[in-house]
Amino acid sequence: MPGIVLIGAQWGDEGKGKATDLIGSHVDYVARFNGGNNAGHTVVVGDEAYALHLLPSGIISPHVVPVIGNGVVVDPEVLFQEIDGLQSRGVDCSRLLVSEEAHVIASYHRVIDKVTERFLGKHRIGTTGRGIGPAYADKVNRVGIRVHDLFNERHLHDKVEASLHQKNQMLVKLYNRRPIDVDATTDELLRLGVRLKPYVANTSLALNRALDEGRSVLFEGGQATMLDVDHGTYPFVTSSNPTAGGACTGTGVGPTRITRVIGVAKAYVTRVGEGPFPTELHDEQGEWLRRQGHEFGVTTGRPRRCGWFDAVVTRYAVQVNGLTDIALTKLDVLTGLKEIPICVAYDVELEDGTRERCEDMPVDQSRFAAAKPVYETMPGWSEDISQARSFEELPATCQAYVKRLEELSRCRISLIGTGPQRDHVIQLRSLVD
Ligand code: IMP
Repeated sequence: MPGIVLIGAQWGDEGKGKATDLIGSHVDYVARFNGGNNAGHTVVVGDEAYALHLLPSGIISPHVVPVIGNGVVVDPEVLFQEIDGLQSRGVDCSRLLVSEEAHVIASYHRVIDKVTERFLGKHRIGTTGRGIGPAYADKVNRVGIRVHDLFNERHLHDKVEASLHQKNQMLVKLYNRRPIDVDATTDELLRLGVRLKPYVANTSLALNRALDEGRSVLFEGGQATMLDVDHGTYPFVTSSNPTAGGACTGTGVGPTRITRVIGVAKAYVTRVGEGPFPTELHDEQGEWLRRQGHEFGVTTGRPRRCGWFDAVVTRYAVQVNGLTDIALTKLDVLTGLKEIPICVAYDVELEDGTRERCEDMPVDQSRFAAAKPVYETMPGWSEDISQARSFEELPATCQAYVKRLEELSRCRISLIGTGPQRDHVIQLRSLVD
């Protein structure tokens, strides 16, 4: 039975919510496997727009079991806010399953995220300030708090004490802040645990059983390939694995159960936060893309950096995720441009000062940061494409643009987003079988 992984192929905000929602209506389970409430996607159903950060987008579909996997870091306060917000609009959230092994974002993680960024100054990452990095750091340092820890007072107190021991030294001595109280933090977490308990489950077991019984699962990634802590533009990355492999480690489902890996790529590129971005436009053209594409963060409201489609990045995403399909989103945003540049390769400087054309992602980050895009220009189109329901209905120049992206990416494009509504889409082949 299908185990479908859906991930971002660029730097995030590719419009995964829409694709997830589309596929989600054909699957039984939607499981998030990484990140936390640093993600943000808007799901539009009819006239209602839902901004989700932590909850899997499958929460909107009544037949889907939404799952928060062990690879996610859960801020229970944010989770309850999202549940309350949806329930007040008549969306039933009682089917939600939260992994008992997921790590918890406590209030001190948010504090540390913010003070660290301030302390780093010009070396800051530009994080979302949601405590994501510090929660994952605790996980790897083996001083994290897991969901099931919230149900045992003595045990939790010990864990909070162990976790805060070093942090308080740092807060007081390095950052000149007040220490965080162990008892008050334990009480706060215990209270959150009471409300969380009905949702908590062994989600690895639930997902494996579902697959055994012939049900289909969509594994939904937060963030994107280029923000992956291993494969992204380190150190300007998030602290988890948004790449396809993260779907397995982040849910406790083996790789042999994955049947399809779909990468979502925008018809141009955006990025939030700091870090290299070869095709970034610093001029009016970038401003135009930002306006046309409404490129402001759902989670932080920050204006996104905008640039032309980068085929080197997409080829890399195809490689590290083993993509079987690309879902190309926001093609309509480019309507009205006379010409559309596509970055086909980079011009990079070698150690001896000579320059070289580079078709593959440079592993050396300083080389990537200094890479100059090599552009090829395609003719644009001016017709409204939002009503097109088949590839043939797109203007010829638009078809040629899509075909060229497919060729350069070395992966088939199976879905094209042509506007913000759910039905503004061209499906070239099924994504679920
Ligand atoms: P963190 O995930 O809050 O630690 O932030 C690390 C980097 O990832 C920053 O550059 C963020 O802007 C970026 N980031 C985190 N989540 C998202 C997302 O959902 N979309 C785009 N960028 C993100």
